[in-house]
Amino acid sequence: MLHLEHSCLFFRSWLALTVGVLLDLKLSACSSLSGSRPNILLLMADDLGIGDVGCYGNNTIRTPNIDGLAADGLMLTQHIAAASVCTPSRAAFLTGRYPLRSGMVSSNGYRVLQWTGVSGGLPPNETTFAKILKDKGYATGLIGKWHLGLNCESSDDYCHHPLSHGFDHFYGMPFSMMGDCEPWEMSEKRAGLERKLNVCSHVMALAAFTLAVGKLTHLVAGSWTLVICSAIVALLFFTTSYFVGALIVHADCFLMRNQSITEQPMCLQRTTALMLKEVSSFVQRNKQGPFLLFVSFLHVHTPLITTKNFRGRSPHGLYGDNIEEMDWMVGQILDTLDTEGLTNSTLVYFTSDHGGSLEAQFGNNQYGGWNGIYKGGKGMGGWEGGIRVPGILRWPTVLPAGRVIHEPTSLMDVFPTVVQLGGGQVPHDRVIDGRDLLPLLLGTAQHSGHEFLMHYCESFLHAARWHQRDGGAVWKVHYVTPMFHPDGASACYGRGVCPCSGDKVAHHDPPLLFDLSRDPSEAHALTPETESSFHQVVERITKAVEDHRRTLSPVPLQLDMPNNIWKPWLQPCCGRFPLCWCDRETDP
Ligand SMILES: *[C@@H]1O[C@H](CO)[C@@H](O)[C@H](O)[C@H]1NC(C)=O
Ligand SMILES: *[C@@H]1O[C@H](CO)[C@@H](O)[C@H](O)[C@H]1NC(C)=O
Ligand SMILES: *[C@@H]1O[C@H](CO)[C@@H](O)[C@H](O)[C@H]1NC(C)=O
Ligand SMILES: *[C@@H]1O[C@H](CO)[C@@H](O)[C@H](O)[C@H]1NC(C)=O
Repeated sequence: MLHLEHSCLFFRSWLALTVGVLLDLKLSACSSLSGSRPNILLLMADDLGIGDVGCYGNNTIRTPNIDGLAADGLMLTQHIAAASVCTPSRAAFLTGRYPLRSGMVSSNGYRVLQWTGVSGGLPPNETTFAKILKDKGYATGLIGKWHLGLNCESSDDYCHHPLSHGFDHFYGMPFSMMGDCEPWEMSEKRAGLERKLNVCSHVMALAAFTLAVGKLTHLVAGSWTLVICSAIVALLFFTTSYFVGALIVHADCFLMRNQSITEQPMCLQRTTALMLKEVSSFVQRNKQGPFLLFVSFLHVHTPLITTKNFRGRSPHGLYGDNIEEMDWMVGQILDTLDTEGLTNSTLVYFTSDHGGSLEAQFGNNQYGGWNGIYKGGKGMGGWEGGIRVPGILRWPTVLPAGRVIHEPTSLMDVFPTVVQLGGGQVPHDRVIDGRDLLPLLLGTAQHSGHEFLMHYCESFLHAARWHQRDGGAVWKVHYVTPMFHPDGASACYGRGVCPCSGDKVAHHDPPLLFDLSRDPSEAHALTPETESSFHQVVERITKAVEDHRRTLSPVPLQLDMPNNIWKPWLQPCCGRFPLCWCDRETDP
């Protein structure tokens, strides 16, 4: 056995070396990049704030691995998510399009997909970069969180599943950590459902009682069967309301390998190790390359799953511990690349899906991210804190090390960039909002492809930015802003996220104007008195917004009702519904 392992190791190193040498030859042989197709490793944190990372200025939290990635590669300081919550931001990331174009937004307050048993999700006719690279011969894998839908009509059509969107390997959580993974956690969503069921049970009980009284006093005609039926329905509603958490909501916390559920509910203490094992086996299986691996962390979203080794280590409570654990995971993954000799042939990218949540704060305990000097956070479509995230790229021998780029870039840029690197073509039959990053990264272009960027909150445009290239200013106007809690620092009421519309937002006409190049914290709104070009700037941006609007075409909104309500027949279940329990994992 030992012998076998040794010879395997030897073979592996031999292979890695050969591949490495070949790739190196290939790289140096080609004057342009067109001949070399790198492996692509995309790392995305969940809810991590830009101020949570050492290389972005945090000096109390330890993120040596992410910092190392930046030191060996380059750092984007104005890297912008297309939305300030998970589902739409991730849809935009994978398709290179504003989420409104694919319909991955709502217009009525459902910010993300609410359950696994909903029919909404990334439409089958959207094209992800994974799909294009797969067609170009890449092995494509997704490990971790998805949160872009699962089924359309039955619990096993998998129309929105990662395997239907260009990934040939999936291991992870189809949904998201929505606060129901730990028995002690009661999400708003679950509490709401229990309340509704409880009300139903009361109504039915009252109906049964009224019928019975009517019958006894001969005021109502009708059979006893009706009375008994109403009573039974009342009892069913009543018991369901007590078991819904344990049976149904909890059932959304599960892991899948390809299309099979492997663990429902998840045992959170071992998920980190399982994910890392999966990454390393994916890399080993595909080291002859090229591969595209998207590692989508469950960190640092609540409930902040943190193994014992990392608990109590950081000066920032459980949240800080969770970041340090994620950073360690990044290190483990980079080590795997190194061991396999793939470091020089792999483009590594690190980001977060959007800013940290300022509302996730209980008492003095921090459960959400820190967005540094930027105002606002998760859920706020316009303020920098919700959308400006870390963006780090490393590709030794190709990209310069240690460069910092301040140009506006978008997470949507990853789409055309990796498609280009993989030898594919971006689709021509639709609008792609991302821009190829390579010229900027290689230093052959001075500016990014974004003169303007739109900042949406659901389907509502809240703000827009203009990088005025001749003057160097980065202007931002806000048409709509959320109303903050009077004594909370740039945060809204309650535990949830700020709304995008309704009476809890303020409309600005004329819009609020900031110059981010002078005032990155958006602390001082400019006025025609303080800024002589106020009217010209607002007019120029408003014109760009109108031009942008003309490129939109109406599509069904996947996050609206009725695509975003729980449908029992769509609930993935590895037992007999509603008894969804199984464990097919072996301990890593
Ligand atoms: C570092 O991150 C922690 C965790 O989010 C935060 O509480 C702290 O304020 C940050 N420190 C700095 C200097 O940015
Ligand atoms: C997932 O499915 C693909 C085919 O769709 C297959 O190549 C791959 O091996 C499967 N992965 C696992 C872990 O079963
Ligand atoms: C990777 O590239 C660096 C130069 O950036 C070089 O020193 C190193 O030897 C290369 N490693 C391999 C395995 O080719
Ligand atoms: C996808 O299908 C929808 C109809 O369901 C349509 O409105 C939309 O334009 C299509 N998108 C693309 C990119 O073809």
